[in-house]
Amino acid sequence: MKRRLEEPSETETRISFVDSGGHLSYRGVNIHDMAKHSIYEETIYLLLYGKLPTKTQLLEMRNKLSARRRLPAGVVALISSLPHFAAPMDVLRTAISAMAMFDPNEKDNRIETLLERGIGQIAQATTIVTTHNHLRNSRLPIEPDPEMGHAESFLYMLKGREPEAWETKALDLCLVLHADHGLNASTFAARVTASARADMYAALTTAVGTLKGTIHGGANQKVMEMLLEIKEERMVNRYIDEAFREGRKIPGFGHRIYKVEDPRVVYLRNVSRDACERTGHAYLFDLSRKVEDTVRSEKGLLPNMDFYSATIYYALGFPVDTLTTVFACSRMAGWVAHIIEQCELDSLIRPMGDYVGLLNQPYVAVEDR
Ligand code: COA
Repeated sequence: MKRRLEEPSETETRISFVDSGGHLSYRGVNIHDMAKHSIYEETIYLLLYGKLPTKTQLLEMRNKLSARRRLPAGVVALISSLPHFAAPMDVLRTAISAMAMFDPNEKDNRIETLLERGIGQIAQATTIVTTHNHLRNSRLPIEPDPEMGHAESFLYMLKGREPEAWETKALDLCLVLHADHGLNASTFAARVTASARADMYAALTTAVGTLKGTIHGGANQKVMEMLLEIKEERMVNRYIDEAFREGRKIPGFGHRIYKVEDPRVVYLRNVSRDACERTGHAYLFDLSRKVEDTVRSEKGLLPNMDFYSATIYYALGFPVDTLTTVFACSRMAGWVAHIIEQCELDSLIRPMGDYVGLLNQPYVAVEDR
């Protein structure tokens, strides 16, 4: 199936809208409504199918995710063969790439197949992250529980116990809020790969590799490392002043698009406060507030969503080096939707470079240089 949009362009999309004034919507539904009313399974459906699901469709989505969480034994064996010090984002990238070889229909790029494959990949990403975390600690991975929703199952596989209701709710909200964000770097990278008619696994691998970057999704890990390094509120001014003096960027601040506060931050700040208080990490929230106030007053920079999601994931029990994989597990929904949209457009993304180099240079023989 091939759909042509009117006057297709490399950057045309109908999936999410972001603007500098702090507006974000998924398929036209405002992020504030999504934050207040949606759950991740519903968000996946909305992003993939372009409309909110009926009760039956929502249940079907939940069931499909539950049924597809297990990993092929070969992928588990691959993960267990990786060095114990491997970075979780590298493991996620490698495992998703390997998934292609366990899919006998890898080259089938029909939209119906892509949707089913994409749902499977969204489901399995959480299992890859938690399986790796257990294996690297010499523990047996926790099998997914098919009765659980996506956020609940993610926490269950991480911790090996049923999560409390507030934990599931906190993670679910984070998954909803991180699910898509226009043509950000990793999404655009995924679309470039898909535009060349490569398979979905290749495009997702590209996306995970790009998200790892420390000024993109990798920023949440950097935020957590920064907070743990600062340790105490009284050290904040010194740390921030030094960073500014040395021209270092403060992770979790600034944004390429938003010129006002990121609309997701208000929710994440509240969840961070609650999660930190409930888990005995209230000092981390207080420290975050102090960093926010200091960076805001000294440079006028506002926090982005990586700033408060870092402490939420940490309070929920995710190890510091896995924080970006949690972001990736949520963004899988957006990536899959964008990859499918790009496949429907079926148009190669090939920007013209703005060449600013030399022209008409003589070729000098090697012995004369
Ligand atoms: N810490 C310190 N200064 C920052 C900053 C930060 N986090 N973010 C932006 N700035 C400063 C820049 O140094 C620059 O100052 P200058 O004009 O004096 O040189 C100015 O603000 C504009 O920044 P610039 O990097 O050109 O903006 P950008 O749109 O290219 O960058 C980011 C956007 C997100 C890449 C950038 O803000 C950043 O690196 N943030 C930290 C990493 C992060 O949190 N990433 C997640 C993004 S969602």
